[in-house]
Amino acid sequence: MSRFLLAVEILSIFVPLVSTFFTPRLSFGLDHIRLTSQEANEINDTLLTFDQKVDHFDPNNKDTYLQRYGVNVTFYKPGGPAFILIGHEVTILQRWTHTDRSYWIALAKEAGAIIFTLEHRFFGYSWPKPDLSPESLKFHTSRQALADLNAFILAQNVAFDLNNPKWITFGGSYGGSLSAWAREKYPDTIYAAVASSAPIEAVVDFSAYLEVVSDTFYNFDKNCAQRLHQGFLAVQSELQTPEGQEKLKRIFGYHSNLEGPEAQSDLFGSILNPIMLFIQYGEGGRGHATKLTKICELESADEKNPLEGLANVVAFLTKRKLLLRAKAIEPNNGRTWLWQTCNEFGFYITTNSKKVVDNFVPDVIPVNYSVDNCKNVFKDVFNNATVYANVDSTNAYYHGRKKYSGTRVLFVNGKNDPWHALSILEPREGVDAIVVEGAGHCADMLSDNENDIPAITAARKQIHAIVMKWVKE
Ligand SMILES: *[C@@H]1O[C@H](CO)[C@@H](O)[C@H](O)[C@H]1NC(C)=O
Ligand SMILES: *[C@@H]1O[C@H](CO)[C@@H](O)[C@H](O)[C@H]1NC(C)=O
Ligand SMILES: *[C@@H]1O[C@H](CO)[C@@H](O)[C@H](O)[C@H]1NC(C)=O
Ligand SMILES: *[C@@H]1O[C@H](CO)[C@@H](O)[C@H](O)[C@H]1NC(C)=O
Repeated sequence: MSRFLLAVEILSIFVPLVSTFFTPRLSFGLDHIRLTSQEANEINDTLLTFDQKVDHFDPNNKDTYLQRYGVNVTFYKPGGPAFILIGHEVTILQRWTHTDRSYWIALAKEAGAIIFTLEHRFFGYSWPKPDLSPESLKFHTSRQALADLNAFILAQNVAFDLNNPKWITFGGSYGGSLSAWAREKYPDTIYAAVASSAPIEAVVDFSAYLEVVSDTFYNFDKNCAQRLHQGFLAVQSELQTPEGQEKLKRIFGYHSNLEGPEAQSDLFGSILNPIMLFIQYGEGGRGHATKLTKICELESADEKNPLEGLANVVAFLTKRKLLLRAKAIEPNNGRTWLWQTCNEFGFYITTNSKKVVDNFVPDVIPVNYSVDNCKNVFKDVFNNATVYANVDSTNAYYHGRKKYSGTRVLFVNGKNDPWHALSILEPREGVDAIVVEGAGHCADMLSDNENDIPAITAARKQIHAIVMKWVKE
């Protein structure tokens, strides 16, 4: 049955953490953190809890839950602004409010800001309901999460006796979407927003994702990209015979069944996953020419054998001989993000693109590969029609990227990050937008580093100027 997620270990956007990205099929954005033991020990150190409403939209529902947050007043100067890093689909840590490896902390220091971070409901240890039944998960929406944020901010104004403070929200990836949407939906509470690598358009069939991956390889080295294409075609052709399937299992160290279209999509997903994450993050977003060179060398080592080359690339990226395989969903890790994709966002990565099929990966991952997963995992709560309708409803609620109506919002995106395809890239009235050539996902959120590509350093200078302008105006 199609109850699988693909899992890959990867640096999280907050460098000190090593996280595991569970991808509901090929949709991600989901970065549920696997904590190191040191981090697990500090997980509850100074984080606090806030009495939060379970349902902001039903006045008759008086239930509350404990939502975790962190605060740091060290940099605060009376009259200064309030910054909040919005938790996305992860466990938050107190260190988010002081690590010198996050760029927003440098901004907070300079601005004299009081800083907060708030855990997203149904992630980490913030649970409005004790279980993950569809009945409980109906409270798991971005709309409720934004209302949480609004209620939290209003309460902190009272708690810290903040007099008309300028609240500026920050966030990356889905947290960036929330940051932009928070300013759009609660403009009286929130003064301005920075949204890093934020998808603003929900879409069931996210076929543009692999187009960006393909473009990134073609722009770097056309010959290398074409050999990868040959490698993918060879996988497809070997899948046609039992002998070929045995060969694929051997060279990729793959132990799952390869019979039938779904199992074959699983194999392609497992091969693509490390390659996609490598492009998305580009060595922590710091530009990745060195590793791209290495990948192209591996792919081309044996001129006659692009399939072997592809297996070497995957082994190099996953740092192990065995290809990471589809992994059964764990009770809480992937499931709550998967719910959000079925219930609100889609974001399913597919090969439904002529450009991709002609130049990179054959048409092996149809959209129903992921949509059917919603049906299977949540026992017929969803079907094809409802998944599409949910995504339409999300775009109607937040207005999509063309009609996004927030102002005093800054969008920052990396050109190599496939998620930029769903974000806002052009400045417009009230909206600033920065696109960073050569950068990956959320690279701007990391503090300056000597290995940074110059384009990221320059982008941070622009972010600095815009945020300080908001603080001072
Ligand atoms: C942290 O707190 C949560 C909620 O109170 C608890 O369930 C969890 O076990 C604690 N974790 C650690 C590492 O102490
Ligand atoms: C607040 O930030 C300061 C300066 O980085 C740090 O030393 C301190 O541990 C932080 N406090 C909390 C509660 O995180
Ligand atoms: C998706 O649609 C195709 C063609 O309509 C069908 O063959 C396949 O079984 C469906 N389901 C999955 C999970 O691919
Ligand atoms: C799913 O719904 C979409 C949107 O209505 C439609 O275009 C598509 O054909 C449907 N797919 C299936 C397999 O019913």
